[in-house]
Amino acid sequence: MHNHSIDKERLPKHIAIIMDGNGRWAKERGQDRIFGHHEGVLSVREVVNVAGEIGIEYLTLYAFSTENWNRPKAEVDALMELLVATIRKEAEELNRKNVRLHVIGDFAALPVLCQKEMQEAIDITAANTGINLILALSYSAKWELINAVKQIAEKAKTGLLNPEDITDEIFHNHLCTSAFPDPELMIRTSGESRISNFLLYQLAYSELYFTPIHWPDFRKEQFLDAIADYQLRERRFGKTSEQIQP
Ligand code: FPP
Repeated sequence: MHNHSIDKERLPKHIAIIMDGNGRWAKERGQDRIFGHHEGVLSVREVVNVAGEIGIEYLTLYAFSTENWNRPKAEVDALMELLVATIRKEAEELNRKNVRLHVIGDFAALPVLCQKEMQEAIDITAANTGINLILALSYSAKWELINAVKQIAEKAKTGLLNPEDITDEIFHNHLCTSAFPDPELMIRTSGESRISNFLLYQLAYSELYFTPIHWPDFRKEQFLDAIADYQLRERRFGKTSEQIQP
């Protein structure tokens, strides 16, 4: 499409991305899967920069799922090392660009070194007021939802909360995304049309954008295409077309 007539007044506040296809991108080039992940980091950098520049407020990237622990150990280790190395290398740059880093997921399941590096970057950038970069690490929506239910049930058991009073807002407050609005747009690269255990509650009304492009080839042009496509859609939230006309 490459038509970047983007309306800055109607940007999604929050974009979530499933960065898929690093492995296939590498295989197509006769390379090791890890090579694809390294190239994927370049796309991460470019998309974070563009998103920050045009004024997106929240960007959530699915970097590692709960299920990804089941990959061959060498790949898991390489991904964790890549995360640590990338954050170490980029933390100052993120800070300079006023990016605020967050991590959602089962933080305790990450290797200690990874936790430490992430926590440092989170602390360094905590006062920043630009784009919120939210990395989903060892994250899965079922894990998150079950956690929320456990916390709510515990509060009900101890009398802190009356089951009758549980609302969407209260439920939302128990998710790891409680500090963020729901994404208006979810992008998945590399041709699969699935949600794959990503933000199941938060994506209830999101526009979904699927592209065959593998993540390492998803750069500024492709990101702006996705936003332009989003802006062509009519978001009705269950209402009729007539009801939402201004
Ligand atoms: C999906 O491709 C990608 C991942 C599981 C990892 C994503 C990680 C990065 C882009 C690098 C680190 C990220 C940050 C935020 C610094 P895949 O391996 O599932 O590809 P395939 O479906 O072709 O096998």
